[in-house]
Amino acid sequence: MTDPVFLVTGGSGGLGAATAQLAVDAGYRVVLAARDADRLAAFAAGLGGPDRVVDVPCDVGDWTQVTELVSRAEQAFGRIDAVFANAGMSLTTSFLGAGGESPQRWRDMVVTNVCGPALTSRAVLPALVRTGGHLVLTGSASGRGVRPGSLYSATKWAVTGLAQAIRAECVGTGVRVTLIQPGLVDTAAIPADRRDDPKLEPHDVARAVLYAVGQPATVDINEIIIRPVGQHAYR
Ligand SMILES: NC(=O)c1ccc[n+]([C@@H]2O[C@H](COP(=O)([O-])OP(=O)(O)OC[C@H]3O[C@@H](n4cnc5c(N)ncnc54)[C@H](OP(=O)(O)O)[C@@H]3O)[C@@H](O)[C@H]2O)c1
Repeated sequence: MTDPVFLVTGGSGGLGAATAQLAVDAGYRVVLAARDADRLAAFAAGLGGPDRVVDVPCDVGDWTQVTELVSRAEQAFGRIDAVFANAGMSLTTSFLGAGGESPQRWRDMVVTNVCGPALTSRAVLPALVRTGGHLVLTGSASGRGVRPGSLYSATKWAVTGLAQAIRAECVGTGVRVTLIQPGLVDTAAIPADRRDDPKLEPHDVARAVLYAVGQPATVDINEIIIRPVGQHAYR
């Protein structure tokens, strides 16, 4: 079996699930990771049998679990060609204390959104070097413009820097690195105060991911910013 292998974190819902679906349609074998094992297994079973789709429960903020994820992927399929380091979460915050989630919860978001893609990248890059593969990181439009009081926005600025640091280190390896920066997408993650704003569908972002990984091996799409028509520039 030589079909390429696509590993997706946050693969049980939202952007990750939509990307996994399009990757299967494009002929990839797929490895899916998320924390809720039952939800992940149910989604994976709908995508294909174990010769095409493997699900691995994993918290991307935990190095041991992330290395186990990569081991399981390579055991199952023998290679990894593309990785969507996508798992993330969003909390509303205020540095003035004007509402938002308790600071007791802030660490979880920083660990998931910053350590998650960093640890995933560290764990998968040796495999991607072997295949001349492709790493795609999910940032956000809010990782380009500042949102008042938003620690989420700051975590996505970190992902912007992470993608650039990884791409710089990968020069000469053949590995491509794409940062995808969506605006508002209609998933479980959007905050209640933005439910009436213009939104993309998860498949809109998934198509952009498949566009990036579908380019010739000599072409590195560095960044894609994709917003719904009518979204305010820095929302
Ligand atoms: N929706 C938007 O408007 C929007 C815009 C820009 C960027 N983004 C980014 O897009 C990415 C996906 O978001 P989404 O909107 O698709 O969210 P979603 O619908 O809530 O899906 C999040 C996925 O990530 C998994 N996940 C969450 N924390 C995890 C962890 N610590 N380890 C492993 N898996 C974890 C979830 O499953 P479990 O809970 O079972 O782990 C789920 O599969 C995130 O990085 C988000 O910041 C979203």
